[in-house]
Amino acid sequence: MNEANLIKSSIKAGEIVVRNVTKNYGAAHFSKEVVKDCSFTIERGKLTVMIGPSGCGKSTIIRLLAGFEQPTSGTLELNGQPIEGPARDRLVLFQETALFPWMTTYDNILYGPRARGEVTKETLELAEFLLNKVGLRDFREKYPPQLSGGMQRRAELARAMINNPQVMILDEPFRGLDAMTKELMWEYYSALYEENRRTNFFVTTDIDEAIFLADRLLIMTNIPTQVRAVLEVDMPRPRKLADLVENDRSNEIKMEALSILHEEAMKSFSRGSKAAADFVDAYSKRMAKT
Ligand SMILES: Nc1ncnc2c1ncn2[C@@H]1O[C@H](COP(=O)(O)OP(=O)(O)O)[C@@H](O)[C@H]1O
Ligand SMILES: [Mg+2]
Repeated sequence: MNEANLIKSSIKAGEIVVRNVTKNYGAAHFSKEVVKDCSFTIERGKLTVMIGPSGCGKSTIIRLLAGFEQPTSGTLELNGQPIEGPARDRLVLFQETALFPWMTTYDNILYGPRARGEVTKETLELAEFLLNKVGLRDFREKYPPQLSGGMQRRAELARAMINNPQVMILDEPFRGLDAMTKELMWEYYSALYEENRRTNFFVTTDIDEAIFLADRLLIMTNIPTQVRAVLEVDMPRPRKLADLVENDRSNEIKMEALSILHEEAMKSFSRGSKAAADFVDAYSKRMAKT
């Protein structure tokens, strides 16, 4: 089978529906509401990006999607079935590296299938395909500490994708990388996405990252969070980084998203939170730059 078809043929794209989900931590008077009556759909075969200020509750939503925690009320469903716990069909990639430092890049990528005793000829072909796709063919025998930060994230992408989850969930996976490495990651990641159209859910605080990657953009309110707006990012693929500066539609979407985020920040600012003040500050600078 040709390699691009190899990855496509094994993909089952799932769809997640989140309905009226609320999540509180702590009991009674000391209870803290983090997610409030939140509803959205992670559409099949699309890349949905969630953007919201730090601390608004995004990772909390991810823990619910992953099934690590249960909502206080509301429902989460994958393909119409309730999400009741962690399972292989929803794979979460966190910001922290999960590579095993004592395994080579190649062994790290094959870790999942090997652990399940599911290494077939196709799995090995897929491993080669992914190694190439993330630009690590020459680093297959290297150990994670011998790789740059960007290479480590790319190895993780490959390591996650070889498991063919129905939904790939990524929680700020490129945070902490320098600007150039981050842009390179957007290119690798979007190329992988464009090739296989798996269902992806990507969480970020970075507006440029969000617009470059998204088919659909969910803009979140501050804590307790819910979806404030949904923007369709109707720009053609494959996308180029230059589009972010030169493309009028991209700038239009960015201005719309920033003004909503800014409004949200102002609301919490008026409630007197320090984090919100920093947020207003940061986003005012971004507004001035565009
Ligand atoms: N287990 C928990 N107990 C109490 N509060 C929590 C817990 N987990 C998260 N929170 C609170 O929820 C808020 C949102 O956190 P998080 O979901 O990590 O936000 P984000 O990912 O958007 O930065 C934070 O104020 C955090 O203190
Ligand atoms: Mg988070």
